[in-house]
Amino acid sequence: MPRQILVTAALPYVNGHIHLGHLVEYIQADIWVRFQRMRGNHVAFICADDTHGTATMIRARQEGRSEQQIMAEMSEAHQQDFAEFGVQFSYYGSTDSASNKALVGEIWSALRAAKDAAGAAIVAERDVTQLYDPKAGSFLADRFVKGTCPKCKSPDQYGDSCDKCASTFSPTDLIDPVSTLSGAKPELRSAKHYFVRLEPFRAFLKEWTRSNGADGTATLQPEIANWLHGTFLSDELRDWDVSRPAPYFGFEIPDAPGNYFYVWVDAPVGYLASLTDACTAGKVAGTPRQWWPKTGDAGYADQAVEVHHFIGKDITYFHTLFWPAMLKAAGYKLPTQVHIHGFLTVDGEKMSKSKGTFIRARTYLDAALDPAYLRYYFASKLNSKVEDIDLNLTEFADKVNSDVVGKVVNLASRTAKFVPTLTTTYPEDGGLFATAAKESDAIAEAFASCDYNGALRRIMALADRANEFVEARAPWALKKDPAKAAELAATCTVSLNLFRQLCIYLAPVLPGLAQKAGELLNASCSSWNDAAKPVLGITLAPFQHLVARLDPVKVQAMVDASKVESPAPATPTPAAVVDDGAALSAEPLAGTIAFEDFAKVDLRVARIISAEEVPKAKKILKLTVTLGSDDRRTVFAGIKSAYGDPTKLVGRLIVIVANLAAKPMSFGTSEGMAIAAGPGGSEIFLLSPDSGAKPGQRIH
Ligand code: 2FM
Ligand code: ZN
Repeated sequence: MPRQILVTAALPYVNGHIHLGHLVEYIQADIWVRFQRMRGNHVAFICADDTHGTATMIRARQEGRSEQQIMAEMSEAHQQDFAEFGVQFSYYGSTDSASNKALVGEIWSALRAAKDAAGAAIVAERDVTQLYDPKAGSFLADRFVKGTCPKCKSPDQYGDSCDKCASTFSPTDLIDPVSTLSGAKPELRSAKHYFVRLEPFRAFLKEWTRSNGADGTATLQPEIANWLHGTFLSDELRDWDVSRPAPYFGFEIPDAPGNYFYVWVDAPVGYLASLTDACTAGKVAGTPRQWWPKTGDAGYADQAVEVHHFIGKDITYFHTLFWPAMLKAAGYKLPTQVHIHGFLTVDGEKMSKSKGTFIRARTYLDAALDPAYLRYYFASKLNSKVEDIDLNLTEFADKVNSDVVGKVVNLASRTAKFVPTLTTTYPEDGGLFATAAKESDAIAEAFASCDYNGALRRIMALADRANEFVEARAPWALKKDPAKAAELAATCTVSLNLFRQLCIYLAPVLPGLAQKAGELLNASCSSWNDAAKPVLGITLAPFQHLVARLDPVKVQAMVDASKVESPAPATPTPAAVVDDGAALSAEPLAGTIAFEDFAKVDLRVARIISAEEVPKAKKILKLTVTLGSDDRRTVFAGIKSAYGDPTKLVGRLIVIVANLAAKPMSFGTSEGMAIAAGPGGSEIFLLSPDSGAKPGQRIH
């Protein structure tokens, strides 16, 4: 009987673009889905944008756009990136949907009605004191407060940690805190919050986190279960704060007007909601309750109806503590398995914007690198453990070229052009085809347990043997001797059948290659069992290019492009220090002016409250700055080549010419000029006052 498997990957935040770190997970999940489908199972693969929360609200305010506009634009960009990397969701939804609102309401009602063993309510209410921006009228999450580090006194630090001395603190510890929303000084305010008491779920969670499925597979990887038990489940569980007071972009709590569900409440419910929308849209056959049953539904106790989550280790406790508690309270089937992966490092280090290793999916694609390369490389690194995986940029090219091109594609490119048809009986091959067919179960087992590294090692061992066969038979030499035509046909028939077998086993990872192999050999490569039987007697389709060699120059181009998108902070390099005189000689001093002339220029300290790119303007960023109070002005600044990530500018103090006549430009009117040094390109340095300066202060 085919299994019915619902698979989800974490819902990406609507606020950021997809990068290679994200892709580890989506590629991992997509490979698993494709593999399960090849085995004949029914799979729905669901994802959506995670839309709610303060960050979306603030971005909308800063950009003067609606949340809906941002969501539409980002959803399209995300879906385009996924599609180009071959990540094929059955449906891609949004947490900001009517179905999600209804489902969150349903689960909330269940939580509201739930009682612990002593008859006390599961939902509790308490006052919480938080920093509040009186001007923006909003409570402030830690990242929306900036100030001077209480420890090392570095200015311009976020409310939770210092990026200079790495100390962590609470936003109330900051010296001279300011709200990055308005520049106002935040104050402490108290508001009512709603909490879900998790302690009553502890006994259930202790059991569920150590449970096994019907086939004995553990619900959680052992290291995760051990961590949960050691860190959380051996002690009383803390209550979970599930509400945020207005203003907040999210769903208002039905029985608590003015309060909203915290984004992490409605995000996982988004899995269910997106499934619901998928069924409504006819993208997934059946009803949502057939895929994700509730107590009493036919599939609830059916082991063949399964729910699998793929997530990164950073969001483990949301998916293994909060989420199962919510599902349990509402009577939904619990996840069959949560597959948790580690982080991506690049060349052994955390992804770094300044080193160009924080690479967006789009930058990879723009460098004309085939997405198949990354799918193969990530697969070769992934196993069933929660280990970080490293993208070594040199090894990346070497591995793809040696395995995919050198060992697999080569089998076809060295033989497909020599014969028009395959023989009608399968030639003697020393047992190669039969051996590879016997490997089917072991390879399948490795894919099923997410040990893709193990699967690829087995497949490549088969490829090595196939290549030895071709080397020994040397079809390129046989081709030259008409008397050896039969031997040539036999050699090519064997080589192409072994090639096809490998392509079938690799199809979950390299679906495009399997498709092309199927076209070349006029034979299906889409079902796992296709690998059991050779194809014979067919006429080959014209040979088309399969996978090109990976050109390391393109990898370097991708890294360079990533550096331009996210330039390093301007710190003087030794060369720049030695070169002190060069700037002066490059731009000699202007003629002397009278003091009165200088005094006409009104230079002011300004705070950047938003910074964004201007469509079609290659060099310009649109800054919204304030000189304090209600002053707001737009300044277009030609600094984009040096400040690729405009969001980093938000909250920063700069200097502007405040009394320059407004200048109409094609994209809007500039109401001031930001002062910066440097010749241009990546060498543009905005001026900032020392810490303590306030917006509006004049520069004398
Ligand atoms: O960590 C994240 O990127 C979240 N947006 C993942 C949400 S997964 C699910 F719960 F929605
Ligand atoms: Zn510090």
